[in-house]
Amino acid sequence: MIIEPRMRGFICLTAHPAGCAQNVKNQIEYVKSKGKINGAKKVLVIGASTGFGLASRITSAFGCDAATIGVFFEKEPAPGKTATPGWYNTAAFEIEAEKAGLYAKSINGDAFSDEIKQQTIDLIKKDLGQVDLVIYSLASPVRMHPKTGVLHRSTLKPIGAKFTNKTVDFHTGVVSDVSIEPATQEDIDNTVVVMGGEDWSMWMEAMKNAGVLAEGAMTVAYSYIGPEVTEAVYRKGTIGRAKDHLEATAFEITNDLKEINGKAYVSVNKALVTQASSAIPVVPLYMSLLFKIMKKDNSHEGCIEQMERLFSDRLFNGSEIPTDDKGRIRIDDWEMRQQYQDEIAELWKSISTETLTNNGDLEEYRNGFLNLFGFGFKEIDYTKDTNEMVMIPSIK
Ligand code: NAI
Ligand code: NA
Repeated sequence: MIIEPRMRGFICLTAHPAGCAQNVKNQIEYVKSKGKINGAKKVLVIGASTGFGLASRITSAFGCDAATIGVFFEKEPAPGKTATPGWYNTAAFEIEAEKAGLYAKSINGDAFSDEIKQQTIDLIKKDLGQVDLVIYSLASPVRMHPKTGVLHRSTLKPIGAKFTNKTVDFHTGVVSDVSIEPATQEDIDNTVVVMGGEDWSMWMEAMKNAGVLAEGAMTVAYSYIGPEVTEAVYRKGTIGRAKDHLEATAFEITNDLKEINGKAYVSVNKALVTQASSAIPVVPLYMSLLFKIMKKDNSHEGCIEQMERLFSDRLFNGSEIPTDDKGRIRIDDWEMRQQYQDEIAELWKSISTETLTNNGDLEEYRNGFLNLFGFGFKEIDYTKDTNEMVMIPSIK
């Protein structure tokens, strides 16, 4: 079929298999160009199909020569209907891993469930014995709690007061005010259940009990802090409470892994275009200003540059892992540079539909968004008939 982007609101309903493969290949090439990392050799990535999780998997495999197992929740293709991007990304990843002689298998299902945890543990036991690194990179709007059967929904709301700020519709470039009513206590609690650390600790506990964590195993989950302009809706909002919980959980997990000398970290990452972040109000407008400033200063990074730096400069730098005063790894250090943040705060005051063209890089944002779905790659001929029924080798 001829596959074109079909947008609905903040999502794209189609994905291009060859474009997704191109995206994966570009990321692999980047990691290879940076040289080998003396890091983990057997890695489980939970949330491995897109965004930071996919980049973590690629860095593990092509930077550290690691065997990888990836867990994710994606939709497979049907005749005339494309798969979700994470499906095609993983198909391409496994094919490239196989060519490079690297073990790679994947599990598609709900990572919050006991069943998928068990299936993953069984696969580790059968094929790898143990893993020495677990990356936890889930981003989901819902979580079915495995013990109660209750379906919890996360929200992106301020806490305590109504929040009004500027936002952009990145499809049209129109800047307008957005107002969000404050969260109820229930909203806060639900968001913490979905995006907090409980599921991460459940994974680590189940894996420890099953004996599939190697001596000295490490686990890393991802968090975000961000600027003042998004604070009310992000770090001090419902999602921020979940991130507070996630960050606190790292210490609990480290404590639980004492017997095996294990350690849990949270890495605070840069704001980047992913399916998860494009749905957050105000954030895309901030990102379009940030990207312009960082590109001008040659410090702009995407998911793969961030993850390569996390592995080579932080996790496996041959020495101690540097953290902030709260024990967090910071690879948002470049984003948070005072001069960038001051410049953004200044531009923010007068940002409008008219001034955004000059002061922001909406094009970078839009391209980044299209790229998520395998569109906008110059190497791909989008007028060509394309087979949508691309399968993931390890999933029949
Ligand atoms: P993403 O949307 O690109 O990736 C989410 C992954 O989770 C995908 O692999 C998806 O298949 C998987 N997933 C979702 N629900 C699942 C389920 N029920 N079972 C199994 N797999 C499931 O998200 P992104 O942006 O890479 O986020 C990953 C983490 O990084 C999140 O914790 C996010 O808060 C954090 N982060 C994101 C930033 C950003 O700007 N995008 C910045 C800093 C941190
Ligand atoms: Na991810």
